[in-house]
Amino acid sequence: MTKAEKYKVLISQIKQLISGEEDFTANLANISSAIHYTFNFHWTGFYLSKGSNLVLGPFQGLIACTRLAYGKGVCGKSFIEQKTVNVPDVHKFEGHIACSSLSNSEIVLPIFYNGNTVAVLDIDSENFNNFDFIDEQYLEEISNLISPLFTDYQAR
Ligand code: SME
Repeated sequence: MTKAEKYKVLISQIKQLISGEEDFTANLANISSAIHYTFNFHWTGFYLSKGSNLVLGPFQGLIACTRLAYGKGVCGKSFIEQKTVNVPDVHKFEGHIACSSLSNSEIVLPIFYNGNTVAVLDIDSENFNNFDFIDEQYLEEISNLISPLFTDYQAR
């Protein structure tokens, strides 16, 4: 299967997963697993806006930093600038927060609710240059599927 085909299967899997369940944590947990194991990424997970930090949410992979300040690191940049940040080589990204020494490239996407960023989807790869326009495009579609899950979310 091509990468685009894998994303299409993944997207229909995510739609199915969230259509049968309304629990926020359960859905984010399963979505992180579905993305992670479709591509065998190094780390896949969510950071949720809470108070003055992004706090670690459901994820797949090694233990990660629990709190990231807004504006700091790749996640903080995506959150503050409200855009996808695709980093081909994390060692060249000023301010990158290394939770694992095995990560070499990273993509972070904002998740919006009512026009505000409420969380980010963070994916790390052991390969350099792992993410391209296809990843950006499909992961943005996934981020849009996730948005409505934040209906009752309280960022505190
Ligand atoms: N590298 C991220 C921190 C989170 S970990 O990758 C899981 C960053 O610079 O924001």
